[in-house]
Amino acid sequence: MERGVDSVIRLRDAGYTYPKGVEAIRGLNLDVAVGEVLFVLGHNGAGKSTMLRLFNGLLKPTTGTVTVDGTDTAKVRPAQLSQTVGLVFQNPDAQLFRDRVSEEVSFGAQHGAGTDGTTEGFERAMTLLGLESVADRNPYELSLSWRKRVAIASVVAMGSPILVLDEPTRNPCPHRPDHRQAPPWSRLRGGDP
Ligand SMILES: Nc1ncnc2c1ncn2[C@@H]1O[C@H](COP(=O)(O)OP(=O)(O)O)[C@@H](O)[C@H]1O
Ligand SMILES: [Mg+2]
Repeated sequence: MERGVDSVIRLRDAGYTYPKGVEAIRGLNLDVAVGEVLFVLGHNGAGKSTMLRLFNGLLKPTTGTVTVDGTDTAKVRPAQLSQTVGLVFQNPDAQLFRDRVSEEVSFGAQHGAGTDGTTEGFERAMTLLGLESVADRNPYELSLSWRKRVAIASVVAMGSPILVLDEPTRNPCPHRPDHRQAPPWSRLRGGDP
């Protein structure tokens, strides 16, 4: 993917209506360029989470098209896009399944886009999200704020070229002022800090 040449995520008149009839998104046009960091703000129920699920093909648009790195998401299985788009869910508990933080993050590193440097992916994610002190803990013994960080780390460790985070700064830990800040966005995407 070459910087500035083309949009890596492209929505054209995209809409999504849930099976029971809720129209969550209508006529959305969006271009996200390579290297771009995009923040999306909107009230509860505005359709943010739905849109992010369109990005990784978990949902297919019911109208219009969604193209990711040149691929029409309607034509591929979500598993095929998971190497390209790493999505951190709004609710970390929908994502975490190992009983140690380090295992959770290792799993991401082992199943990511990069076949080389899995240890590097693990170390990088643990450091970026500040998880060294909780590496041996069970995520479910940790606060929601920490679990969210573990979920982000497990996806960061995958090293997918597109990183999508749903509500990454919600539920900060009241005892950890540093958790009130957003993770270091520019460094999450890899490359030089
Ligand atoms: N699984 C679902 N089934 C039916 N309706 C849904 C589902 N998920 C979300 N919605 C509806 O779609 C709309 C957009 O929701 P959502 O994408 O979760 O918004 P946001 O993330 O901005 O809060 C809301 O009206 C919500 O109630
Ligand atoms: Mg949401």
